[in-house]
Amino acid sequence: MENLFNDSVKSLETYIMFRIKQKAAELAPGLAKRGRAPIAMAMGAPVVPPPDFVIQKLTEALSIPDIHTYSTPRGESFYLEAVAKRMKNRFGVDLNPQKEIFSLIGSKEGLANFIRALINPQKQEKEKDIILIPDPGYASYKEMIKTNGGLGYPMPLVKENSYMPDFDTVIENLKRDGYDEKKVKAVIINYPGNPTGAVCTYEYLEKAVEFCKRKGILLISDAAYCDIYFNEREKPHSVLEIDDAKDVAVEFFSFSKPYSMTGWRLGWICGNEAAVNAFGKLKSTIDSGIFKAIQKAGAGILNSKEGDEYIKKACKGFKTKQMILINGLRELGWKIEESDIPKASFYLWLPVPERFSSSKEFTDALLEKSGIVAVPGIAFGDNGEGMFRVSAVSTDEKLQECIDRMKADGFYFE
Ligand SMILES: Cc1ncc(COP(=O)(O)O)c(C=O)c1O
Repeated sequence: MENLFNDSVKSLETYIMFRIKQKAAELAPGLAKRGRAPIAMAMGAPVVPPPDFVIQKLTEALSIPDIHTYSTPRGESFYLEAVAKRMKNRFGVDLNPQKEIFSLIGSKEGLANFIRALINPQKQEKEKDIILIPDPGYASYKEMIKTNGGLGYPMPLVKENSYMPDFDTVIENLKRDGYDEKKVKAVIINYPGNPTGAVCTYEYLEKAVEFCKRKGILLISDAAYCDIYFNEREKPHSVLEIDDAKDVAVEFFSFSKPYSMTGWRLGWICGNEAAVNAFGKLKSTIDSGIFKAIQKAGAGILNSKEGDEYIKKACKGFKTKQMILINGLRELGWKIEESDIPKASFYLWLPVPERFSSSKEFTDALLEKSGIVAVPGIAFGDNGEGMFRVSAVSTDEKLQECIDRMKADGFYFE
């Protein structure tokens, strides 16, 4: 049977997060017997429930006449208008709801279909359309590009470039590696970033827009974590705040992380009208829009006092969790400078102790010995080797337990 499927699907592995989850589940009974029941630190998913307000809105919406019928792929006008208002309130960005916004079944779906809309599939490596992607970066980018017959070319995000690679240098590297610059169709940027938690400057966004304009390519900004930040003065920007960004840019947003609504599958794309429409044409052949009750509840929370207060409180909680881990890991010998502490997101991106030969060896040992489920850096790209990622989303007590287990089980940084 498997042979009937196409080559790109055959070459795929199950998504890394599900593989890690599955391994933890298999080991769980044995670990529990030793007092090491798995503590989930791999998934980037808040564990607390969404705001009461949104649950109430959803319940109310279920009784609205016509709510149970098909929606439209672009989204209901009340949803699109709420998104436009949010973009104005949060970033000062003006958008036409019917032309420059499109609803998404979560930003993962949106990114996958956008990439699908962009790439002309090719088999020969050097013939493939290219999208520049952050490395380390969200593991799905590379796979989404690969399954569509394209190539994700890495932009190295390292401490030395403050996780903001120079775009022209990336193009020089690409040419040096024998690829044709003309095959590059887009750049994906992701700030605040997964897995690094890094934020970028406003000036960097200006550079990204200038670069894409000069090269005649698309700028795809993944802003899934834009509302999870710890300092009002370093609030993440939207790329659409940059003058004329709409000439080249689209941006992806999600309800998943800020409102703990990962299971709801709700988000939006906005920006360049032609790009949003091309994407929308493809999407309207694939799905028939999002359940209207979900859109209703989502629209309700977006510009509400309750929603903003929820995010503020959640960020305060994430900061506390971050510091439990940072303080504990410092006690364990990790040299974490102030500048290494992410200013946004709920991730920690840290070096693996040298006695481990790879990031996978380290995270396997953490799981098998201590029941701590973390992600090896290599899962995010070649530049991630030597690092690992943990999500500080569990309860404060469980996070402290992680540190205690690491101490008891000898996971010192030496
Ligand atoms: C960088 C980044 N983008 C997009 C997503 C997808 O989020 P969702 O599909 O829940 O909106 C994730 C999820 O972890 C992510 O880390």
